[in-house]
Amino acid sequence: MIIGNWKMNTLRADALALANAVVGMDRLNSTRIGICSPALWIDPITQIVKHSSILVGAQDCVGDNFGAQTGCINADMVRDAGCSMVILGHSERRARFGESTDKLLNTIAAVLETGMFPVVCVGETKKQRESGKAFDVVAEQLKPLLTAGLDLGGIVIAYEPVWAIGTGLSATRKDIEEMHATVREVINRNDTVVLYGGSVSPESADDVFNAEGVSGALVGGASLNVDKFAAIVAAWERK
Ligand code: PGA
Repeated sequence: MIIGNWKMNTLRADALALANAVVGMDRLNSTRIGICSPALWIDPITQIVKHSSILVGAQDCVGDNFGAQTGCINADMVRDAGCSMVILGHSERRARFGESTDKLLNTIAAVLETGMFPVVCVGETKKQRESGKAFDVVAEQLKPLLTAGLDLGGIVIAYEPVWAIGTGLSATRKDIEEMHATVREVINRNDTVVLYGGSVSPESADDVFNAEGVSGALVGGASLNVDKFAAIVAAWERK
């Protein structure tokens, strides 16, 4: 599964052009491709992808029922707009809005309840890695999932080392393999889809995808460029 996380990028015309190009990548390949666009473009994008197998997702939502929450969009709304997934706990939101897995449990449950799948992001900072705490940090980010009575089979995990996001630095194959094994060990499931994210590019894709335990990628910057995103999908196809 290759998911593009467009973050806070694209005006409407760019978004629709990009979505059309992604539909063109859908060909006969077996790769599950997803687009997580800004919330405003979800609706027109679902129209563009409707005769393809491209999945559309949101970059966030809240887990509460309808009510007085100015500026928020809940899981039911996202589902109703045609989404199949929601990215939750991205490090940019953990850092900026103080999100934590604990605080997100309600949202993860709400997303699962609608039939969508959450893409729960975990990952350590550079400082945490350098001080040898990367595995503990990721394990702590995952542990709240274990005791919340969630259907773990419905959750996708994205391992995204914070220091690799948007920096052009990619984790080494060994780092990725070790962490993906740790993720599966902590959640005690071998069948979980564990994506890698962090500067995945046409140049790094083969290396990332050859790492054991990688089920695909969450792609930020490179997903905004049709050629780069297509090259990443092609790398997965030839894996
Ligand atoms: P990047 O972003 O590919 O630009 O590093 C990945 C992500 O944050 O999901």
